Amino acid sequence: MPSPLEPARHAGLARVAQKAARMEPDDAHGLDERDLAASWLEQFERWQAEFTAAGAHEPTAMVLATAASDGQPSARTVLLKGVDDRGFEFFTNLDSRKGRELEENPRASLVFPWYELQRQVVVVGAVEAVDAARADAYFASRPYGSRIGALASRQSSVIADRGVLERARAELEAVHPPGRAVARPEHWSGFRVLPASVEFWQGRANRLHDRLRFRREADRWLVERLSP
Ligand SMILES: Cc1cc2nc3c(=O)[nH]c(=O)nc-3n(C[C@H](O)[C@H](O)[C@H](O)COP(=O)(O)O)c2cc1C
Repeated sequence: MPSPLEPARHAGLARVAQKAARMEPDDAHGLDERDLAASWLEQFERWQAEFTAAGAHEPTAMVLATAASDGQPSARTVLLKGVDDRGFEFFTNLDSRKGRELEENPRASLVFPWYELQRQVVVVGAVEAVDAARADAYFASRPYGSRIGALASRQSSVIADRGVLERARAELEAVHPPGRAVARPEHWSGFRVLPASVEFWQGRANRLHDRLRFRREADRWLVERLSP
């Protein structure tokens, strides 16, 4: 669990967020090797707690980049639904563009764009499927409307018009009335990005930003500073 933050630090970070909105560089919060947490996970949780406390609208939103087997990359926003020392978890439609690309090429990159604090976190790594029990548990925790929506949408396919979705929803609501269990469809599950590296980027004045990267090498994690 992230440690509780002091109110003064909150106020300072909120000021950084206000300044960032005006695109003014702020040098008050550097990222120093001495202040870095012992693990990427602890550092990530610390920054995410600070981003949330600074009033972030979508503190779990992240940009997920995948690539097809021909090398063409694609990117989109998804929500982080779990993080632990194995990696970063999200859920989606397995038949979607990203689902198909991950099937062909199980590697990805994530970007957490925390502009309001002049920060970003960039993850690179392999991807694995979450197990069925985890996917079932998460699907069951979603609101009724989201579960019906997951059944109704053939994510990423071209459809004639909005009516296609509305008709599918009405049909599914008739088959699965509210209050009844809706089983997780086979085409819907989750993935975990297993980081090979996690970079923490902190904006500084004059473009001399701080970039500290945890990189896995065999069984240990190295910390490296990158030029901005
Ligand atoms: C803030 C935000 C959160 C989103 N979260 C998810 C998500 O958790 N899972 C998902 O499949 N799509 C999510 N989406 C929609 C995706 O960005 C995307 O449109 C969809 O997954 C289809 O992507 P694809 O065609 O590249 O596979 C989200 C979009 C936004 C803007």
